[in-house]
Amino acid sequence: MIPSVKVAALRYAIEKRVGTAAQDAEIATRGDQRRQEIHGALSEALVVALGPEDVARAAIEAVERMGAPWTAFLLGSGIPEGSAPTQSNRPRVLASSGMDEQALQALGDRPDVREWLANPAGHSPYSVVPADKPHGAVLGLFRLRGRADDLGCLAVAALPSAARDESFWDLLAAVANWSGVALERALLHRRLEMAFAEARNTQRRLLQAEKQSAIGRLAAGLAHEIGTPLNVISGRAEMLLEEIGGTSQRSAQSLRSIITQIERITGLVGQLLDFAREHAPARGQVPLADVIGAVLELLERAFAKAGVEVSTSIASDLPKVRADKNQMQQVFINLLMNSIDAIVLDPERATKGRGHIVVSAKAVSRELVKVRVEDDGHGIEAANLNKVFDPFFSTKPVGTGTGLGLAVVYGIVAEHGGTIDIQSRWTQGTTVTFTLPVSPD
Ligand SMILES: Nc1ncnc2c1ncn2[C@@H]1O[C@H](COP(=O)(O)OP(=O)(O)OP(=O)(O)O)[C@@H](O)[C@H]1O
Ligand SMILES: [Mg+2]
Repeated sequence: MIPSVKVAALRYAIEKRVGTAAQDAEIATRGDQRRQEIHGALSEALVVALGPEDVARAAIEAVERMGAPWTAFLLGSGIPEGSAPTQSNRPRVLASSGMDEQALQALGDRPDVREWLANPAGHSPYSVVPADKPHGAVLGLFRLRGRADDLGCLAVAALPSAARDESFWDLLAAVANWSGVALERALLHRRLEMAFAEARNTQRRLLQAEKQSAIGRLAAGLAHEIGTPLNVISGRAEMLLEEIGGTSQRSAQSLRSIITQIERITGLVGQLLDFAREHAPARGQVPLADVIGAVLELLERAFAKAGVEVSTSIASDLPKVRADKNQMQQVFINLLMNSIDAIVLDPERATKGRGHIVVSAKAVSRELVKVRVEDDGHGIEAANLNKVFDPFFSTKPVGTGTGLGLAVVYGIVAEHGGTIDIQSRWTQGTTVTFTLPVSPD
């Protein structure tokens, strides 16, 4: 027999359990409903979210619906902005709710948030840290996980009443998981867009380069065309000079000046042909002093126009190099044109006065000759130094530089078995140094 007291106690206990279970079930149902509602709305928003910002906005709206007073969607500081890495080591805020600029900054600067973002893998998918402010609220940090890396975090500050409810945190963790997947997709989409834009740009620049080489071919054709009539004119002028030279002093003088001018034009046309013609690389014994001399002469007018003083320091016993003469000319033209541009475009030119270029060459061993082209132009910003040899990198105004000059120089020097180095400081000037192999006798 069970004593009645015990029966009553048992019944009470059973009723209480049943009652609690019913209440629990009701709470669970309400929790499920809320979870489903929020999931439904968030999924709908995430399906149409294209950019990372849209994903962030959708997540924040979901959290707003849950009644959290302060929320922010932070992207990790290592995540590139488009194709460029983020500049600061501060996390990037993609969206927020209930926080002004100052509060967001304070949140991003919190050592625990920073540490958490720097090492998300060292933490659980979500962790709740005591917030110093506001008013005893609790700060929850939820990892936004991509497939390989963490992308950032969802920071939610909750009031103590909500903070005690475990399902609240579970639901937030779910929101962060759903958003993390969508965020990764959105970042990928953005990178693809950037890559497409870059590819289009490269194609445009290649077309431009193609156009330039077409201009080179055109110049070569034109030089041929001009060469023939020039020959005829100078031949006839010489004939006339012979015929009437003895009779009229004035006519003879005029004919002589016609011949001199034609010789000048013929010389220019010859140089143009030399430079425009495409040559198959040929290795020969090249006296660099002659190449440098010829290029300096060719650029004489450009130096004069830019007000540049050029000097050379070429060792008298400089051995010949094993090289392609035309390619060597190309190297010096490209380097000297860059120096002229750097002097002309120098914003401090007015205070610096005349620009200077020094070309020097000497043997540094039995096998190597070292050449140096130095200028006191505007120099190169430190951030650009490792980009200048990249094809298509140019800081010159649109349409003036194709960014191929140094890439070509680099290619030629490397093909010859030499090395090239550029040293520069912004506002100070630039020195390009390269080596070439000494030609065996
Ligand atoms: N002597 C120099 N002084 C300062 N900057 C230089 C110098 N030489 C090169 N640079 C920098 O490097 C960039 C790339 O040079 P590069 O010769 O490859 O292209 P570019 O001169 O811009 O165009 P292009 O040579 O095709 O006309 C230049 O735009 C410039 O910013
Ligand atoms: Mg150049």
